[in-house]
Amino acid sequence: MEQKLGMRNKYRKSTTLRCSAWSRCSLPVALWIMVGCLLLLLLYSLLPQWDSFSLETQLQVSKHLHELEQAEEEIIQMPPPRKRSPRAEKRKPKKETTIIDEFLDESSQLRHIFFPDIKTAVDPNKVNESFYYYPGRIWLDTEGNPIQAHGGGILYDELSRTYYWYGEYKDGPTYIANENGLARVDIIGVGCYSSKDLWAWKNEGIVLAAEETNETHDLHKSNVLERPKVLYNKKTGKYVMWMHIDNANYTKARVGVAISDYPNGPFYYLYSKNPHSFDSRDMTLFKDDDDVAYLIYSAVENSELHIGPLTEDYLDVTDTVKPILIGQHREAPALLKHESTYYMITSGCTGWAPNEALAHASESIMGPWETLGNPCIGGSKIFRETTFFSQGTFVLPLQGLAGYFILMADRWKPANLRDSRYVWLPLRVVGAADQPLELDFGFPRWSRLSIYWHKRWRLPYRWNG
Ligand code: DGJ
Repeated sequence: MEQKLGMRNKYRKSTTLRCSAWSRCSLPVALWIMVGCLLLLLLYSLLPQWDSFSLETQLQVSKHLHELEQAEEEIIQMPPPRKRSPRAEKRKPKKETTIIDEFLDESSQLRHIFFPDIKTAVDPNKVNESFYYYPGRIWLDTEGNPIQAHGGGILYDELSRTYYWYGEYKDGPTYIANENGLARVDIIGVGCYSSKDLWAWKNEGIVLAAEETNETHDLHKSNVLERPKVLYNKKTGKYVMWMHIDNANYTKARVGVAISDYPNGPFYYLYSKNPHSFDSRDMTLFKDDDDVAYLIYSAVENSELHIGPLTEDYLDVTDTVKPILIGQHREAPALLKHESTYYMITSGCTGWAPNEALAHASESIMGPWETLGNPCIGGSKIFRETTFFSQGTFVLPLQGLAGYFILMADRWKPANLRDSRYVWLPLRVVGAADQPLELDFGFPRWSRLSIYWHKRWRLPYRWNG
């Protein structure tokens, strides 16, 4: 009996011992398991939501996207000052040359850095460089000609599952129009290119052409047609194009509207107007999730931006309009939306010369809009202060990759506008904004909008929207 009891006790003792060991280490173990599960959940939520892809592919994609957020440095050495004759020096003592002077100077030794020559062109027919973007290089279409779609924007056509890139077709001679000294190219029309992968672009031709003879027509070649943007209207089944219409000295300051049954045109020009009776220069369109579309334009001599909804058929503005960023002198607006917050990128007003971009944010598209600061990361100080020597024109959301976008910008070449280049870079909305606003009591209210400099980059492998 004693023995039995002893055995039972022995047994019990050992059981108790195991139990207490377990309870002693169970808490940390359980905690670690929980932390592990949370980490896995977090990792999973960060992965692109591509259900059809294996976990391994999704991890590769995540790694790739993370690499895109590691912006590259780009240091440009100023060339030694050029020799000038003592007479020239006496006539006009030379002020110090800046990198922007070099950028604008056709004979600069640095020219090839900003405008690499045709030998380095991005060519969709050369498969070894497939899908890589090289900001600033000449970009050829599928027929081997430089793409002509400046100041443009992209429409994703859900019906044909195709991207359409519309922009200023500037393949004509650059000349100085008049006393304002501004370089210009006569209107040729709006160029259109189509693509399934955002890299190889097929020329769809000029979808809205200049008027050759009627001098009173808005589209007469002596005028200005800039920044065309196209939206599809689900209700009417029409493709609607809005653009900046002006005369050669930019005093007409209107918006123009054109319409088509097909994304690749032809577009029929309808009319131009001063929206809400204001002057209107650089402009863009933005279609919200509820299909309401908005016109955003620089107004009051570029001193402020205006924003207002279009009519249901997208063919006109309504009476509603809000002035925003008043007194800030911004142009080249480009909008995006992420998790119910609206963001906008704008440039300063310096003609064809590059300047610093600013990002703005708002909880409502009609404002109030607040300025977050310069979104450019990487390159060098001068790259960031000049939007990588370019000016924004459009922000394209990447389908299936929430929070990832492409910034489309133009590196203008005022000496030969047809040879202006495209600067496409990854843009991300993530993390806290640099400059918490006063009202936030030190807590950042907005996410940071970042544009990362890369000499060479590509979308994730197998990304096809
Ligand atoms: C800056 C604008 O953003 C461009 O679209 C163009 O109008 C140039 N100015 C002309 O100088």
